Amino acid sequence: KIYPAIMCGGSGTRLWPLSRRLLPKQFIALVNQTTMLQDTLGRLPSGCQQPIFICNEAHRFTVAEQTNAVDNKGSILLEPQGKNTAPAVALAAFKAITEDEDAVLLVLAADHVIHDQHAFQNTVVRAQAAAEAGKLVTFGIVPTKPETGYGYIKHGALNQGVADVDTFVEKPDLATAQAYLASGQYLWNSGMFMFKASRYLAELNKYRPNIYQACQAAMSDCVTDLDFIRPNKAAFEQCPDESIDYAVMEHTEQAVVVPLDAGWSDVGSYSALWEVSEQDQDGNVCKGDVLTHETSNSYLHSDNKLIATVGIDNLVVIDTSDAVLVAEKSQVQQVKHVVNELKLKQ
Ligand code: GDD
Ligand code: MG
Repeated sequence: KIYPAIMCGGSGTRLWPLSRRLLPKQFIALVNQTTMLQDTLGRLPSGCQQPIFICNEAHRFTVAEQTNAVDNKGSILLEPQGKNTAPAVALAAFKAITEDEDAVLLVLAADHVIHDQHAFQNTVVRAQAAAEAGKLVTFGIVPTKPETGYGYIKHGALNQGVADVDTFVEKPDLATAQAYLASGQYLWNSGMFMFKASRYLAELNKYRPNIYQACQAAMSDCVTDLDFIRPNKAAFEQCPDESIDYAVMEHTEQAVVVPLDAGWSDVGSYSALWEVSEQDQDGNVCKGDVLTHETSNSYLHSDNKLIATVGIDNLVVIDTSDAVLVAEKSQVQQVKHVVNELKLKQ
């Protein structure tokens, strides 16, 4: 049985001021009329068990409301503080094996865009047998640029759509990413995974026993109220902070990759958001009250005021009730620095 484990604890700082601390990007309707979390639920293959959501304590009512609204309630695991994805997935794995010792987790990020839902579902079905056989499945994307924010996977020959992973390198430096891209032998890690909960926990225990033990202790002493499950705070505080990519995927010998060709994007920044959004004939994406003249290739979003642009190219303009962002589209990775400065002022 497949248990979707949906990670919704990210902060989405590069999409400020649309994405805020109390309402990060996974909880807003960035691309569609529904939120990214709701879109994630909407593309689940049929026949899955109730999802397990892993989120920050502060977002519990947002997750409960948004999942209720699309009739896809599940268990909501509340992290007293974010410890990155290796512990988040471990909490979900411990929860799943209490229900079903053979549980297969379909680990998804709540903030990805996937255009072709059917291709995604077919790919998950293709991955299921490998996951049931004890493999840690990653979903690989054909790379298009030397992005340094992704994991890179070198793989062997495909056999029925599944290939062994030779090496997994998380977030290489630019020179390495360029070499990987040029070699044509690497796929990007999409950040979605599929494996038996028990196998993930065994690998985690092998490579990061301290994360395993902290999460086991936190879950064996958890408190359930309403739909919320609260792992033991003192135990979870002891847990090291590390992503699943560094903690497990770079080390395990059980990894396989299933290529995914479904129009995937992690919409990490405004340029990525511009790429996946519907553009007018001048390459502009206009949200809300926007008037353009001699304007091209820009992302323009207004929550309430009219935005008028004249003679500009490649800009991002975001108007919200209390903040306006104006940025060159090629520089939008740096928006996170603005957020850091704002944090320091608080
Ligand atoms: N519950 C929970 N707790 N969720 C978290 C936490 C946490 O502490 N930290 C991150 N998440 C969620 C985010 O909301 C996101 O949905 C997902 O986990 C991945 O986290 P990111 O922080 O966005 O990871 P990344 O983008 O740096 O890298 C990962 O994704 C890339 C593709 O987008 C890696 O898996 C890379 O290898 C991969 O290429
Ligand atoms: Mg990400």
